[in-house]
Amino acid sequence: MGYNNILVQSEDGIATITINRPKKLNALNQETIQELHEAFNVTDEDKDTKVIIVTGSGEKAFVAGADISEFADFNVEEGTHLATNGQKILFDFVENLSTPVIAAVNGFALGGGLELAMACHFRVASDNAKMGLPEVSLGLIPGYGGTQRLPQLVGKGRAMELIMTGSMIDANQALNYGLVNHVTSQEELLPLCHKIALKILQNSPVAIGAAVRAINASTKKGVNGFQTEITEFGNCFGTEDFEEGTTAFLEKRKADFPGR
Ligand code: COA
Repeated sequence: MGYNNILVQSEDGIATITINRPKKLNALNQETIQELHEAFNVTDEDKDTKVIIVTGSGEKAFVAGADISEFADFNVEEGTHLATNGQKILFDFVENLSTPVIAAVNGFALGGGLELAMACHFRVASDNAKMGLPEVSLGLIPGYGGTQRLPQLVGKGRAMELIMTGSMIDANQALNYGLVNHVTSQEELLPLCHKIALKILQNSPVAIGAAVRAINASTKKGVNGFQTEITEFGNCFGTEDFEEGTTAFLEKRKADFPGR
């Protein structure tokens, strides 16, 4: 499928989705959100894709937020729909994919941009990256999951301060807060993400999907994460990946997981 706002490239089991509106600092308009949904869905269902990396085009921004020009005249119903639809088709969707999703934060990640990075399974940043949730400066609050995922990642007090002040933090502070896992130069950002992806690629995709579901259960209200872990753990014993993984270990060879 052809896209107007994103680029998708696949190589060696790694799909890279690049948000490509550099003149608008990759701001997320509705069409981009829909295209991202499509691209994540297609790559997740492609059995040859084992890891997805999402990044922004240009040297300045990952994503500078939701496209403000699209919602400046919205009323209460339209605002509610914007958040409901966005959370469902992109942010929750990405968080719950079985395929690992790494955010390569290559510059500004503000508002919806930081919310997208936080919906990914983990984040790697370039040293020029700046992150924040400035919505209160627009008379809004984050609507794409930011009030929920930021406290999960950095703690409630830091989330309160970041959201109330609308301030940006730099990559090193984000590292210090645990918001990103690694910081590197801009040139090394995608190579480092690939290096991490190659390590993930060696492991069982079925087990990784189960791990994502179990880890995500730890932050879902009304869900017993320990019970989810037991169920997912038990189910692993019925997979061909488990059979291959244990057999390869006992035969002192590298496992070649069928992904079933
Ligand atoms: N929505 C729509 N357009 C955006 C945007 C957004 N969230 N962020 C940036 N843009 C556009 C600008 O309007 C500008 O477009 P123009 O050239 O047609 O005027 C272009 O991207 C470049 O941005 P500009 O502001 O000129 O770049 P800068 O380097 O001076 O500032 C930022 C960079 C990120 C600090 C600034 O763009 C900004 O504050 N953006 C909004 C961040 C925000 O509030 N996000 C949360 C939204 S809920």
